[in-house]
Amino acid sequence: MSQPNWNEEEDNFDLTLSQRTEELYRIPNSEPKADGLIEAAILPLRDMVIFPRMVSPIFVGREASLLAVQEAQNKEQTVIGLTQKDPELDDPGAEDFLPIGVEMAVGRLLNMPDGSRSALVQGRRRVEIVEFIRLKPYIKVRARIINEPQTADRQTQATMRSVLSLFERCVQLDRSIPEEAHLFALNIAEPGWLADMIATSLALTYEAKLRLLLILDPKARLGQLNNLLAQEVDVLELEDEIHSRVQNEVDKSQREFYLREQMKQIQTELGEGDVFTRDATDLKKKVDAANLPEEAKAVALKELERLNQMPPMAPEVGIIRTYIDWIVDLPWSNASPDNLDVKNAAKILERDHYGLKKAKERILEYIAVRSLKPKKERQPILCFVGPPGVGKTSLGRSIADSLGRKFVRVSLGGVRDEAEIRGHRRTYIGALPGRIIQTMKRAGTANPLFMLDEIDKLYSDFRGDPASAMLEVLDPEQNYAFSDHYLELPFDLSKVMFVTTANSLSTIPAPLLDRMEVIEFPGYIEEEKVEIANRYLIPRQLEENGIEELGLTFEPAALQRIIREYTYEAGVRGLEREIGRICRKVARMKAEGKKYPAAIAPEMIEKLLGPQQVFPSEAERTDEVGVATSLAWTENGGEIMPVEVAIIEGKGGMQMTGQMGEVMQESGQAALTYIKSRAAALKIDMDAFERLDIHVHMPEGGIPKDGPSAGITMATAIISALTGRPVHRHVGMTGEITLRGRVLPIGGVREKVLAAHRAGLKTVLLPEKNMKDLVELPKTAKSELKIIPIKHMDDVLAIALSDKVTVEPPRPRKRGDENVED
Ligand SMILES: Nc1ncnc2c1ncn2[C@@H]1O[C@H](COP(=O)(O)OP(=O)(O)OP(=O)(O)O)[C@@H](O)[C@H]1O
Ligand SMILES: [Mg+2]
Repeated sequence: MSQPNWNEEEDNFDLTLSQRTEELYRIPNSEPKADGLIEAAILPLRDMVIFPRMVSPIFVGREASLLAVQEAQNKEQTVIGLTQKDPELDDPGAEDFLPIGVEMAVGRLLNMPDGSRSALVQGRRRVEIVEFIRLKPYIKVRARIINEPQTADRQTQATMRSVLSLFERCVQLDRSIPEEAHLFALNIAEPGWLADMIATSLALTYEAKLRLLLILDPKARLGQLNNLLAQEVDVLELEDEIHSRVQNEVDKSQREFYLREQMKQIQTELGEGDVFTRDATDLKKKVDAANLPEEAKAVALKELERLNQMPPMAPEVGIIRTYIDWIVDLPWSNASPDNLDVKNAAKILERDHYGLKKAKERILEYIAVRSLKPKKERQPILCFVGPPGVGKTSLGRSIADSLGRKFVRVSLGGVRDEAEIRGHRRTYIGALPGRIIQTMKRAGTANPLFMLDEIDKLYSDFRGDPASAMLEVLDPEQNYAFSDHYLELPFDLSKVMFVTTANSLSTIPAPLLDRMEVIEFPGYIEEEKVEIANRYLIPRQLEENGIEELGLTFEPAALQRIIREYTYEAGVRGLEREIGRICRKVARMKAEGKKYPAAIAPEMIEKLLGPQQVFPSEAERTDEVGVATSLAWTENGGEIMPVEVAIIEGKGGMQMTGQMGEVMQESGQAALTYIKSRAAALKIDMDAFERLDIHVHMPEGGIPKDGPSAGITMATAIISALTGRPVHRHVGMTGEITLRGRVLPIGGVREKVLAAHRAGLKTVLLPEKNMKDLVELPKTAKSELKIIPIKHMDDVLAIALSDKVTVEPPRPRKRGDENVED
């Protein structure tokens, strides 16, 4: 019968298990003498226990042991394996052994590669040492064979069953015990053997095994084993639970890994390649290559990490990728070098624009300062204010050109929502950065010239205050760390040169205005427009329409006609458009092979552009009573506006029509009060104010008008109407009136004076304090107009009113008269 050996050290032997056991079985048990005792040599054992019937390898180290083994082999006898009490002892005496040993057969001695020797042994039966026969050269003893019962009583059977089921559980849980061990155990009927066999299979401690060896009663041995098994099962079950919990986790991630791999394979099969991983590595490369500030880089890497841990189809993947893309694509620090050559800049500015001296000079100063003090980082924030089409945007472009900076532009017109400027938080679906960050990305450099168009048309309402967000953009104290809701990283805008544009200063929030350097772009007078047309607009339009080589010219009178009759503007956008139309017409004539003109003369205009579009308000043709000319400012530039007054019978009321705003109406009231207070001096009958109604009207009633600057004009027209003295037709005036008749300064002087000039007025009455504003006026306008500073209403009347009464002044009827008429 072959006996399995569960000891793993068997690998050291070159014989198969069955060969070895066969060999061992050739060695018979020692024959007992008549007294039932056997005599055998002792093989002292340290640190190991050999149970009956079990095969196991042992090392044979000591000389005495070697002699004992050789002697037994020579005589084909068994030896007794006896455990030393103290494993350290090399030369044990009789009293150094345990009283119980195991008779065993020893197989062939094998020389091991390290010089030691080992042999296979098989336990046979327990023996009790009776007497030591001798100690040298090897120990020999007399011992009694302990016979164990072959069968079990019922109680023992019950214990055996319990032991077997516990062992089964052990085998299930402990993978180091082979499955057959249980099967083998099931076939053992002998209780003591069963205990010994299981004890050998288990990974018990040396002490536990020794104790089992020493228990001679099979039932007691089984009981002890039962306890040990129960403990072992407990421990194994706990281990198993922990293990399976860990396994679960591992399984889940393995499953995901497996699925992901599969998906990759599917994608490869479909020819979509390994899109996801490639993207992720591409992104990582981009992050590494981008010159990001530390904070941004940390965030990008963190997001990348998150991305890599996500299944590729997770909805957040796109969001995170877009976010990383944004971070990578922004120009955090790559500023383009400035061209600080003042002469070159001056050349470029002159090349592109006529006039606009103030703005050009400011830029050249900036460049000069920068070239002297290159470290100066603070950028000017300019605000170009002026009517449409005067070149604000296009000058911005050419400044960028002259500095060698990128030009980007954002229109703020109609922006109500702060989020448009600052972006939405990433938690919103489809969130993006605001316009500022978007535009910076477009710029691609950290120091573009950034034009913020129409800053006067920002709104603020319940959706937040875009103006306050703009403040953060434009304030040099804050804009080095501009915060965008989407980006959630401070972005440095301090190297950006901001230029804002506006048509009017009045609607720009004061805190914003405060941070900007305002440069006014006044409208152009006719001659300037002609100049601009000849130098810039005509060549450009010829080129755009592909008729450069025709050498088409415009006669000055023709241009004048276009300006006067087809455009109504302070700038030149409309003029350019009309020139463009003419160029297209000529291009068509040429293309159709018709005759086309070499120069555009004034009389061709109507044929080319159709009937006259604009009828400029003209100065009155005759001096009239009750009509005075005021000068007004509009977003299109200046304009002259007649103020008409009619006196009718009534009860002393005053009516003002023509869409006058509140301020304008109040200034009309102030004018009236002044007139009443001066009635005597002005030779006006006081009764007039009670018995007559005054109606003030400003034509072009459809256009809203407001502001105090028509005050002196209304006063003049009312006085003229009440006194019958006509107003000189070539006088235009502007100024606010106080109750005492003092004249206060107003705005928009340049536009107003230009409008007067355009309309052909001869004299302009201007508040004395406004005389300083005349500096910017073109020389022609100044020389052709008589501009008179005024301080008081008396000055106005002295100049504007004729001394002669040409119309019978309206006479309020006296009380007595009423009856007569009735
Ligand atoms: N002084 C000038 N010299 C040459 N071209 C000019 C001049 N002023 C204006 N232009 C031309 O007029 C056109 C309109 O100018 P631009 O678009 O800059 O007007 P804008 O002041 O920005 O008007 P808006 O307030 O409507 O935005 C451009 O083609 C520009 O080149
Ligand atoms: Mg513009």
